[in-house]
Order: sequence, then C-alpha cells, then structure tokens
Amino acid sequence: MITFDNVTKVYQKDWVALQDISFFIDKGEFVFVNGTTGAGKSTLLKLIYKDEEPTKGTIKVLDQNLRLLKKKNLPKLRRKIGVIFQDFKLLQDRTLEENIAFALDVTDTPARDMRKQMLEILTYLRLSHKKFSFPYQLSGGEQQKVAIARALVRDPYILLADEPTGNLDEKSSQEIIDVLLDINYKGTTVLMATHNLKLIKKVKKRMLRIEDGKLAADQ
Ligand SMILES: Nc1ncnc2c1ncn2[C@@H]1O[C@H](COP(=O)(O)OP(=O)(O)O)[C@@H](O)[C@H]1O
Ligand SMILES: [Mg+2]
Repeated sequence: MITFDNVTKVYQKDWVALQDISFFIDKGEFVFVNGTTGAGKSTLLKLIYKDEEPTKGTIKVLDQNLRLLKKKNLPKLRRKIGVIFQDFKLLQDRTLEENIAFALDVTDTPARDMRKQMLEILTYLRLSHKKFSFPYQLSGGEQQKVAIARALVRDPYILLADEPTGNLDEKSSQEIIDVLLDINYKGTTVLMATHNLKLIKKVKKRMLRIEDGKLAADQ
C-alpha cells in the first residue's frame, strides 16, 4: 500500500531531512511514526500525499509510483488519502456541518448521499448534536474529531495524522487515538506521527522511529 525505497529528502540544497528510508506498509496496518521535533516525521507524511517530492529514491502509494504520477491524476490520488493535522485546519466561519460538506464538494458526491454520509460519520463520532456549532464553540478534542470526520467522509484508503494530539490534553489525546484505532479496525490504513512516546507506548502497534532523518527502528 505504501512503499519507500531508499528515500532521501533534502531541503534547500543541503538540509537532509530524511536519509535513505525504506519500509513497506501493508493494507490495513496501523503505524506510529515517532521521533523528536525536527526528526523528519511531517516530511515523511508529506511525501506520501505528494506535498513534497523526494530528492532520491522511490515512493509507491496505492500501487502508483509517485514520481510517474501525472499532475492531472494527483487530485484523484489525494481523494483516497485523508490528512489531519495538529492545528485541525477547520474553516472558522463555517459550521461543523459546512466544514465537512466542504470536503465533499470537491468530490462528485450527490447532495442526498452527502448528507447521509455526513450524518453517519457525525453520529459515529458522537458529534451530531453539534452539527450547527462553529469550531470556536467546540473543545480541542471535538475540533479534531471534526477534522477526522472531514477526512473520513471521503472514505479514504489511507489516513495520515500529523501530531493529531499535539494540542490536546491527555484525555482527549487518548480519545483521538481510540478513534484512529477504530477507523483502522474498520479497514483504513492509518499512519500517525507523534513525538509523544508516552502516549503511544500503551498501544501495541508498529512504530517507525525516526532519528535525525534516519529510520532508527521499525518494530
Ligand atoms: N520546507 C522546508 N524547508 C527547509 N527545511 C525544512 C522544510 N520543512 C522541514 N524542514 C526541516 O527538515 C527537518 C525535518 O522537519 P519535519 O519533517 O517537519 O520534522 P518533524 O515533523 O519530525 O518535527 C527539520 O530540520 C526542519 O527544519
Ligand atoms: Mg512535524
């Protein structure tokens, strides 16, 4: 599902962010990407959704060699990959429902299916009673769930979470991890980047450990 073959990423001519990284992630896996700040976690995720290009090496995502992927086919690939971030990236002047509908607008989903899908996901995340709320009326944990809902509504094959618990307290962090584990249980491949080793130690899942841009452990 995701293959990195001797991938190196150099920023600005000489800043090596990732060096000679190789791994394979199978369909349905849940993988933590762990490392201290600046280790290269976000870069690794960005390479997967082609927000950055590798300097060397080959990346394959969903059977596509990203280097050979034509620009016009990139949106099609991105539709299959959900991404969530530490700072949620919600539209502040839109309700929760509108935030999610916005993600559906860019797909060709008919309006009727759209509403149905949206309600299903909001109910699943126990947020349906807040669908007319604005982001500022929600807690951090709830905002992250909206971001998750927005990613899920497009029914992605892969969900990338970049420090999704970075702005949350311990309880909300645990809740978000539980949601991600459940999404994975239902079949989505999930990669979650975090510097917080304590948070993920309890969860028995594969971990790619990045140290100074190198793959220090895959366990
Ligand atoms: N666009 C960029 N231009 C130059 N350097 C960058 C860029 N993005 C990240 N870096 C550098 O690459 C390294 C890895 O960054 P990043 O992948 O964001 O690490 P992490 O997510 O683990 O904190 C850091 O030293 C960072 O400063
Ligand atoms: Mg990062």
